[in-house]
Amino acid sequence: MKQLETTALRYSNGALDVLDQRRLPGEVHWHRCQDGEDLVALIQGLAIRGAPLIGVAAALWVGHCAERDDERDKLIATISQLRSSRPTAVNLMNDLDRLLNQIDKGADNATLVEEAIAIIDEDIALCVAMSEHGAALLQDGDNILTHCNTGGLATAGVGTALGVIITAHQQGKNISVWVDETRPLLQGARLTTWELEQAGVPYRLICDSTAASLMAQGKVDSILVGADRIACNGDFANKVGTYSVAVLAKYHGIPFYVVAPQTTVDLNCMHGDTIPIELRNANEVRGASGSFGSCTWSPTDAAAYNPAFDVTPAELVSGWILDSGVYTHEQVKAGALVSGDHL
Ligand code: MRU
Repeated sequence: MKQLETTALRYSNGALDVLDQRRLPGEVHWHRCQDGEDLVALIQGLAIRGAPLIGVAAALWVGHCAERDDERDKLIATISQLRSSRPTAVNLMNDLDRLLNQIDKGADNATLVEEAIAIIDEDIALCVAMSEHGAALLQDGDNILTHCNTGGLATAGVGTALGVIITAHQQGKNISVWVDETRPLLQGARLTTWELEQAGVPYRLICDSTAASLMAQGKVDSILVGADRIACNGDFANKVGTYSVAVLAKYHGIPFYVVAPQTTVDLNCMHGDTIPIELRNANEVRGASGSFGSCTWSPTDAAAYNPAFDVTPAELVSGWILDSGVYTHEQVKAGALVSGDHL
C-alpha cells in the first residue's frame, strides 16, 4: 500500500502508526498498531476517535490485511471485529460495508487495497468540499462556538466543523472561536485547542456551562458542530452536550449548523430515536485522566451515567453542511439527505 500520512495516522512499509489522542496535548506519542485486537482497543479507548477517522483507520487496517494476503474468511472476521468496536459513528459501518461488498462481489485482495485507499483519499476530498461550503456562510468578525473535536484529528483531512473554521481563517476572514471544553473527556479542551493553535486561529476555551451566558450577551454569531450519525430526517447524534447547545441556539436565535460528510448519513436510519448511543465507563465522569495524570473527584464508587452522545432533533438545525452542499429544512424534508440531491 502506498505511503499515507494524515494528522493522526501514518502508514509506511506495511506498518500503521496512530497518534495516541489520549495523551494530547501533553505528549505527541505514535503507537504502532500490532493487530486487529490492538486497533479495536485503540478505537474503544479513544486513542483513535472522531467519526470519519474511526472509519478510515478501520478501512486502512483491512487494506493492510488484504495486502499481506489474509484469506477471505479472515478478512471478513477482521471486518466484523472492527465493525463492533464503537456503536454510534456510522462512518465505521459505512466504510467497512464498502469493503465487505467488494468481498461479496468476489474482488481480489489488490482491489480491496485500492478500495481502502479510495476511502481515505475520498475522506480528504469530502473535508475540503464541506469546509468550502461552510466557510462561505461565515462573515468577517464572526465569533463561532464549537463542541468536541472535529478537525484533522477526527478525519483524514482538514476536518468537518473545524475544517470550516480553519478554511474561513485561511481565506482571510477574521474569525474567533469559543471552544467548549466538552466534558467528560475534554476533546475540546485537549484537542480542538491544540489544532486551533497549530492553525493560528484565535480561540478561547470555555467551560461547557459558559455557552449560555455568551449567547445571551450576543457574543456568539454562529455554531458549528460535527456529527457521528445523521438520520434521513435530519436528526443527528454528536458528542454529548451538542443537544443543549442546539436548544440554547434556538432560544437565542443563533444559526446552528451541523457539518458532516456523506459517510455520516445512515440511509437505514429514518429517525434520531433509533440511533444507538454508546454508554461509556462511569470512571470517565467520576474524574479525569490524560497526559496530566489521573484523578477521581467523586466518591470512588459514585453512581454515574455516561452516554457518549446525544441526539439533536432536525428542528433545531439551521442547515446541514455536507460535501455536496448546504441543505435547508425543505430539502431535508423532501428527502435530499437520502437521494443526495442538492435542489
Ligand atoms: O467520542 P468521540 O471523541 O469519537 O466523539 C467525536 C464527536 O462526537 C465528533 O464531534 C464527531 O465524531 C464529528 S468528527 C468530525
